[in-house]
Amino acid sequence: MLLAIAALIFCSPVPLRLWKSAPREAFWLALGQNPHPVKLRVPADAPLSAMAQLGKRLFYDERLSASGRMSCASCHNPAFAYGPVGRSPVMMGGPHMSTPGVRAVPSLRYLYRQPPFTIGPDIETGNDIPVPISRQVRAAAGHARVLKTAQAPQAAASNLVPQGGLFWDGRADTLEQQIDGPLFNPAEMDGGTVPEVARKLASGPYAVQFERLFGPSVFADPRMAVDEAMFAIGRYEIEDRSFHPFTSKYDAWLQGRARFTREELAGYLLFNDPAKGNCAACHLDQPTASGRPPLFTDHQFEALGVPRNPAIPANRDPDYYDLGICGPYRTDMRRQTQYCGMFLTPTLRNVALRRVFFHNGVFHSLEQVIDFYVNRDIHPGRFYPRNAAGQVIKYDDIPPRYRANVDTVDAPLDRHRADPPALTRAQIQEVIAFLDTLTDGYTSTPPARQ
Ligand code: HEC
Ligand code: HEC
Repeated sequence: MLLAIAALIFCSPVPLRLWKSAPREAFWLALGQNPHPVKLRVPADAPLSAMAQLGKRLFYDERLSASGRMSCASCHNPAFAYGPVGRSPVMMGGPHMSTPGVRAVPSLRYLYRQPPFTIGPDIETGNDIPVPISRQVRAAAGHARVLKTAQAPQAAASNLVPQGGLFWDGRADTLEQQIDGPLFNPAEMDGGTVPEVARKLASGPYAVQFERLFGPSVFADPRMAVDEAMFAIGRYEIEDRSFHPFTSKYDAWLQGRARFTREELAGYLLFNDPAKGNCAACHLDQPTASGRPPLFTDHQFEALGVPRNPAIPANRDPDYYDLGICGPYRTDMRRQTQYCGMFLTPTLRNVALRRVFFHNGVFHSLEQVIDFYVNRDIHPGRFYPRNAAGQVIKYDDIPPRYRANVDTVDAPLDRHRADPPALTRAQIQEVIAFLDTLTDGYTSTPPARQ
């Protein structure tokens, strides 16, 4: 018996200090179990409203595109967590499906709790009168930024940094509002003018549903018809369970219904260790106080200095830079250069299904991504090109004058040339094993009931 316990202590990845400070917790962890199982509060499973049913038909309607061959699902594939299929960093759209996009396609899962774009700590003020962004920027200017650590991720919530919104730059606030973008974007569905799209809606197989929901005169006002269509798609994304299933192994583990393997447990501990991965500082992995499941993002923006991706055609122009919050696709924050290079922290749920990572899809495996996090400033030559003089151009996808915006203070991005990397090769594999538990559709029989 004693021998078995000693073996558990010395062979498990649970650190000795936890055995000393919280032996019960350490014991359950070492067995692969969640020491504090919770009941997760997930969105109720209700039948789709008539509005959301219409939205579903529109989501899959290829007629709305210029090519007649592209729907929302062409880029946001339901079999890949409504994310992209394959390794291409950007998707082709337009009339001949040959106009390249500029950014990687994000997953549409788990956006139902995305707060609106703000700068400052009060993101849940509810019905308060919104403070203009310009005033928020001025208020934020005098505040020092708090370090983000996995041990106290909530401390960062007091940061006066940009957060929330949809798209990699946060430029739209609600699912109902944003959809105009892809529908009309010439590099995406390229739907044409508002009257053109309205005509397609009026002649669609769902026209009767439209009139039933919005009244017989809905097609008399093309702008209104298009707005209602957008609203319907937004409702579909909010109501349909497939956009927030919470069926990953990690969700089962949180509820005490699954057991981590040794490797998954090691990865989980590294993900949460402020001196190692520190990933949970930004990719929050604990349920909220009221039992809502974690979304693996703090909804904040960061400049990670992701390398420029030469495979994106727009990048052939050396003067072109995608700077996230400060443009060019977002236009209201162009002068706020302190935010240049910052992009929204995405969810890591279902990340293992992706083959393109970061806003510009520059990496194709989780191994490359984590290697970048831990070796960016130790072996920069691995990630960035060299100039004519042979010097490595660090943070090459941001113009030199904004490179100071890159995060060099939060672990694991705080290392210097002579430092050891925050994670070894073997530890990177362990973190990947943990990320694999975030994929929805876990079905194996829960060990507790075996
Ligand atoms: C040609 C590919 C393509 C098509 C078609 C497309 N999208 Fe997207 N979608 C993208 C890309 C790329 C982004 C990220 C763009 C950005 O951040 O600027 C995106 C972003 C989004 C976002 C924001 C997600 C987030 O994480 O903030 C939503 C919501 C969205 N699309 C919904 C839709 C809907 C609804 C449709 C159909 C009307 C659609 N998309 C059609 C490529 C596409
Ligand atoms: C300081 C905050 C921060 C920390 C710490 C952090 N991340 Fe991120 N993560 C981000 C941001 C911001 C992005 C998006 C950056 C971009 O695309 O330019 C991102 C993107 C990612 C992506 C790409 C997801 C996608 O859909 O393309 C992965 C994978 C990822 N992070 C994993 C990790 C892991 C693993 C760790 C720990 C080793 C970690 N992150 C630590 C902020 C952070």
